[in-house]
Amino acid sequence: MTNAVTASTTGDFAVDVRAGLTKAGQKELPSKYLYDTIGSKLFDVIAELPQYGLTRADERLLKEHAREIVRQTPGDVILCELGSGSGKKTRWILEALARRRHTYYFPIEISSAALAVCRRELADLPAVGIVGLEREYLDGLLEVAARRQEGQRILALFLGSTIGNFSSPADRTFLRDIRNILQPGDALLLGTDLEKPIPQLIEAYDDPLGVTAAFNLNLLARINRELEANFVLAQFEHVARFNAETRSIEMHLRALRRQTVAIQGADLAITLEEGETIWTENSHKYSLEEVAGIATHAGWVCRAQWIDREWPFAESLLTAANVE
Ligand SMILES: C[S@@+](CC[C@H](N)C(=O)[O-])C[C@H]1O[C@@H](n2cnc3c(N)ncnc32)[C@H](O)[C@@H]1O
Repeated sequence: MTNAVTASTTGDFAVDVRAGLTKAGQKELPSKYLYDTIGSKLFDVIAELPQYGLTRADERLLKEHAREIVRQTPGDVILCELGSGSGKKTRWILEALARRRHTYYFPIEISSAALAVCRRELADLPAVGIVGLEREYLDGLLEVAARRQEGQRILALFLGSTIGNFSSPADRTFLRDIRNILQPGDALLLGTDLEKPIPQLIEAYDDPLGVTAAFNLNLLARINRELEANFVLAQFEHVARFNAETRSIEMHLRALRRQTVAIQGADLAITLEEGETIWTENSHKYSLEEVAGIATHAGWVCRAQWIDREWPFAESLLTAANVE
C-alpha cells in the first residue's frame, strides 16, 4: 500500500533567498533548495559517480548489517527516514523488518520528486506499507510520532551523511531535537561520512563530468524559474573547497564578473563582485569519536558502529537514552 501526505514547503523559498542573499559578509542559500525535481534527479546521478563513494559505502553497510540492525531494534517497529531521497538503500532494512511482521515506512522529504521515486523504488516489497510525508524533517517526525500506536517503537534513519549539511553546533541541536520527539527505546540509525584525504573529497564534490556543478548551478536556475530572477548561469562557476577549520567540504557558486541580478519574486536586486561566492552547501566530515560524542551530548546511547573501510563511512545505531 502506498499513500502520501503533502504540504507546501515552497512558501518560504522567497523569504529564505532574500535572507541568504542580503546577509552581511558571505552570501548563502540553504542547501535544502538544491532538491527540486531536477536537483533530486541530478543527486541520484551523483550517487552513481565513481568519484562519489559515499552512497555506495552507506549501501554496502546497510546491506551487510541490516539483519543485525533490526535484531537490535526488537518489537513492533515503524520505520521512518529523514530526507529519504530515492530510498534505494533502505530496501535492506525494510526487507529485514518485514520478515518479522508487516511494517510501515514513512519517508520524510521536502522533494516531491524524490518521494515519487522512493515510492516506485520500494513498491515491490511485500508486507510494507509506504506513507510518504512531504514535510520538513522535524514536522514529518512529529507526524510519525503522533501516528505511533501503543507499544510501537520508532526506528528513524538519517543516512547519506545528510547530518553533515548542518554546520556545527546545528548538527548537535538537530540530534537533540530528534531525541526530544522520540521516546526511550526508539532508535536512530545515523550515517556519517568520515575524514579522508582532501583531494579525494574535492573530486567527490567536483567530478570531471560536471554533474555536481550542474546540481549546484541548478539552484540559480530554480530561482530563475520559481522567483522570476535573471541569473545568467554562464557567469557563475561551481566551486568545491575544503574548510580546514570546520573540516567540511563547502560548495559555492562563484561570480565570474561583477553583476547585478534581479529576483522579482523576492522583491530583490543584488550585486555580486567578480570572484564573490554564494555558499550553497556544507558537508562536514566526521571522526568516529566525534560521532559518538555528539550523539551522547544530544541524549543518545551509541549501541553499535559499523565502518566501511573501502570508503571511510560509519553507520551508528543510537538508542534514545532515558530523560533524567
Ligand atoms: C544528501 S540527500 C540524501 C538522500 C538519501 N538519504 C541518501 O542518503 O542518498 C538529502 C535529501 O534530504 C532531503 N532534504 C533536504 N533538506 C530537507 C528538509 N529540511 N526536510 C526534509 N527533507 C530534506 C533532500 O530533498 C534530499 O533528498
